[in-house]
Amino acid sequence: MRHLISPLDLSVEEIDQLIALASDIEKDRSRYAHVCDGKKLATLFYEPSTRTRLSFEAAMLNLGGSVLGFSSADSSSAAKGESVSDTIRVISSYADICAIRHPKEGAAYVAASKSSIPVINAGDGGHQHPTQTLTDLLTIHSLKGRLSNMTVGLCGDLKFGRTVHSLIHALARYSGIRFVLISPPELKIPDYIRETVLDANGIEYRETTNLDDAMEELDILYMTRVQRERFFNEEDYIRMKDCYILDKEKMKFAKPDMFILHPLPRVNEISVEVDDDPRAAYFKQAEYGVYIRMALIMTLLEVEKPC
Ligand code: NCD
Repeated sequence: MRHLISPLDLSVEEIDQLIALASDIEKDRSRYAHVCDGKKLATLFYEPSTRTRLSFEAAMLNLGGSVLGFSSADSSSAAKGESVSDTIRVISSYADICAIRHPKEGAAYVAASKSSIPVINAGDGGHQHPTQTLTDLLTIHSLKGRLSNMTVGLCGDLKFGRTVHSLIHALARYSGIRFVLISPPELKIPDYIRETVLDANGIEYRETTNLDDAMEELDILYMTRVQRERFFNEEDYIRMKDCYILDKEKMKFAKPDMFILHPLPRVNEISVEVDDDPRAAYFKQAEYGVYIRMALIMTLLEVEKPC
């Protein structure tokens, strides 16, 4: 039985297969409408979510399966003090696969260790978010036709942004990837990622506080929200929340084929005037989240591709 807790749980070949399957699903969704008939997905969300939970649910429904679950800790027995370990043992007998989001780093790993069904990490605190990364990889692949040989700018909250951590882990395995890490000094990527992923693999990167200067060298710009819920005090959040705002003026410096990604939700970091720019790919990216999750559910449930 397979789980997906970190992007490294999948080999590069498996990621390429998932992208190929998701692209096939996008072309002809109706062919996949019954491949998960009779299967159930449980969504255990202890933290707010719009896209991740609903795209998981849409994915399972599109495959002919059904969904059950809860969307906040308050409406589950967590409010009575139940542990994740106990919850997952029970859910294992109610569903065939589960996606879990939890504010604590490592919660999905703990759940997987007690589960008898595949567990998918849908975000564990400020740690990892592997299915957002699969979505991002599918988006980049669709837009650029490749996942190698490009300069990727990651901008905003690189300290607490779990989508950034997972994306760095995943992209570092492709050749010719260069990162420009754009953040205020307080929100730089954690040392463990710099040391164990970037330095250990000899990945080229530079850190800067200046988005304007970085614009012209980027092939992809991945914007992120400052993660208010992970701050220890509100004053720090207020000081940093609008540290980067991507607007039309800044876009003038970008290459004509530089695409903007954002895992969403957006707060202020991308001005709405940018939405009409053909290089704004974040809403398309959210749509790709459904196809890649359909491909992932099929793969973890070992469902055959329809002929
Ligand atoms: C992200 C998350 O939850 O980490 N959202 C998402 O899943 N699309 C990003 C964020 O909340 O800023």
